[in-house]
Amino acid sequence: MLLPTWPLALTAAAVVPPLVSAIPHGSSPPTLGRGIAADDFVSVDGYKLKDRQGTVYLTGLNYWSCMNLAAEGHVGGNYSRFITELDQMAAHGVNHLRIMASSEGAPTWQPFRMYPALQEAPGAYNEAVFVGLDRCLAEMGKRGMRATMTLANEWQWSGGFGQYVSWATNNSQIPYPSSWNLTAAPQRSEPGTGWGNYTVEGVDADSYGNFTAYANRFYTIPKAQEWYHAHIEKILNRVNTVNGRVYKEDATVMTWQLANEPQPAVVPTESLGPYSLELPAAPEDAIIPWVKNTSTFIKSLAPSQLVNVGFEGKQGRWYYQAVHNFSSVDYGTTHCWVQNWGVYDMLNSSSTNLEAAKSFATAFVANSSEWSKEIGKPVFLEEFGMARNNWENEGKEYAYLSSAGTSNKDAYFTTIIGAVMDDFKSGNGTYIGSCPWAYGGLYRPETQHANAFGEVWAGDPPHEAPGWYDLYDTDEAMNIVHRQQQDIAGFLST
Ligand SMILES: *[C@@H]1O[C@H](CO)[C@@H](O)[C@H](O)[C@H]1NC(C)=O
Ligand SMILES: *[C@@H]1O[C@H](CO)[C@@H](O)[C@H](O)[C@H]1NC(C)=O
Ligand SMILES: *[C@@H]1O[C@H](CO)[C@@H](O)[C@H](O)[C@H]1NC(C)=O
Ligand SMILES: *[C@@H]1O[C@H](CO)[C@@H](O)[C@H](O)[C@H]1NC(C)=O
Ligand SMILES: *[C@@H]1O[C@H](CO)[C@@H](O)[C@H](O)[C@H]1NC(C)=O
Ligand SMILES: *[C@@H]1O[C@H](CO)[C@@H](O)[C@H](O)[C@H]1NC(C)=O
Ligand SMILES: *[C@@H]1O[C@H](CO)[C@@H](O)[C@H](O)[C@H]1NC(C)=O
Ligand SMILES: *[C@@H]1O[C@H](CO)[C@@H](O)[C@H](O)[C@H]1NC(C)=O
Ligand SMILES: *[C@@H]1O[C@H](CO)[C@@H](O)[C@H](O)[C@H]1NC(C)=O
Ligand SMILES: *[C@@H]1O[C@H](CO)[C@@H](O)[C@H](O)[C@H]1NC(C)=O
Repeated sequence: MLLPTWPLALTAAAVVPPLVSAIPHGSSPPTLGRGIAADDFVSVDGYKLKDRQGTVYLTGLNYWSCMNLAAEGHVGGNYSRFITELDQMAAHGVNHLRIMASSEGAPTWQPFRMYPALQEAPGAYNEAVFVGLDRCLAEMGKRGMRATMTLANEWQWSGGFGQYVSWATNNSQIPYPSSWNLTAAPQRSEPGTGWGNYTVEGVDADSYGNFTAYANRFYTIPKAQEWYHAHIEKILNRVNTVNGRVYKEDATVMTWQLANEPQPAVVPTESLGPYSLELPAAPEDAIIPWVKNTSTFIKSLAPSQLVNVGFEGKQGRWYYQAVHNFSSVDYGTTHCWVQNWGVYDMLNSSSTNLEAAKSFATAFVANSSEWSKEIGKPVFLEEFGMARNNWENEGKEYAYLSSAGTSNKDAYFTTIIGAVMDDFKSGNGTYIGSCPWAYGGLYRPETQHANAFGEVWAGDPPHEAPGWYDLYDTDEAMNIVHRQQQDIAGFLST
């Protein structure tokens, strides 16, 4: 068995865990922080977070595949990779991981998603994947890492809203938008090693608008909401099989997140602002009562932990404030995606292109900090990323080879993380940390091998090109993340 031994019934007295003996693989973990006592909950204090030791700054990383990687091999897990990567992140000062605490399956195999699913059918759970999630929390806690636990997903890569709608409508066909098809041409001669291509709208994919219209029916279908609430209760009341902690009473779980990037349900008549990202005010939007209802529900079950929405903030000030201005939502979130939003081109090596991305990110952080202050809440930059210098891959066999350099990504990370740190340190800011997308650790596209479930577990989720936004263990971005943590630790100690 790979289950580490761990005393049950942890108390505040057991703050310093027996780290070395509890880690079954490799040598003792590097530069670990303190373990997290079950009752050392993080709370919001003005525009800052705090725990028993004082102010908490979140040096975060996205690690959405955690529960699947940490599971046993017969369900596609890779426990030694999980432990190695957790140690790597801890050695870079990471104290927060945003992970999935949900994924949904279907009666017939569906493309583009995490497999096996945690919830294979309404109310039916894959216990081996659940044990993977237990292991994530237990091992994170030992390394002083807290979690954002994402409870659903707007997008198809974990099943998500679309799967709940399909379940509730006689397993109707989900209209998938353009997504990465790992088994499409081109393939390499060795089966399961790549590369794949995107499906094409109008050929083998639907439009994003059609997909979100389908997925957003989730907000208002009573049966879908009933199942979603049952999932929330199931997760919050889970007793961790590794350390005996109940999830809702474990301070390792800092935050329950309603969903990854829930989208407005009102179809906008126009897009506003210089980047055409902002949407007009729509007080009738179903997302707003849904946030209120779900966040109130979670707070009633888990009053010691925090709740957030998982919103990107791209829709502008009105929507940002409308979804966050509830007493049951503890802090705001933002996601900043310069390439996806048309501000940056990963194939363009010009400095103007990079400067446009940096200016956008700086303004986005400043603007969202102000929006948060106006509603009296802190804000967490919990997703952002940039591709490698992929113009260097042009003409090669794959556009996302890890051999491309990262000079643009490094400059961009320094700027956007710097903007968050400056805001945090300014005395009048609202940012509480940063969380890049996404840790790929040991993964590389060049050596990828789909497992028995068709998964490669890149930092990019299954509906996107593997290697696009990955942070690899040897990337300079990880040193930028680490310097952030050291800088803030120095700031907080003075
Ligand atoms: C686990 O991950 C490591 C590192 O990526 C890889 O070398 C190994 O083949 C993986 N094992 C399995 C069983 O997939
Ligand atoms: C549900 O779907 C099945 C298979 O597609 C179909 O035969 C059946 O008529 C559908 N039922 C309803 C109520 O739509
Ligand atoms: C992916 O590509 C393969 C090979 O072309 C094809 O058989 C399959 O239908 C595609 N999957 C989807 C979901 O489009
Ligand atoms: C990937 O798909 C795009 C869009 O259909 C197509 O233009 C391109 O040639 C494909 N790439 C390969 C290598 O087949
Ligand atoms: C989107 O849905 C509409 C209405 O069902 C349909 O006419 C259209 O073809 C769909 N778009 C795509 C790209 O499939
Ligand atoms: C949330 O909505 C459901 C109906 O979908 C209702 O039964 C429940 O009371 C609401 N909960 C809260 C906390 O508003
Ligand atoms: C936020 O809610 C408070 C009261 O709950 C209200 O006074 C304030 O106007 C709201 N702000 C926004 C921007 O909606
Ligand atoms: C690269 O980006 C710059 C600045 O946005 C633009 O002026 C130039 O035309 C772009 N070059 C190409 C080849 O797209
Ligand atoms: C920031 O806000 C200003 C003023 O509303 C606006 O002009 C600008 O486009 C915004 N920038 C970003 C990146 O959101
Ligand atoms: C916040 O502080 C910075 C300097 O630390 C200052 O430049 C900025 O104007 C202040 N903003 C507000 C809204 O007070």
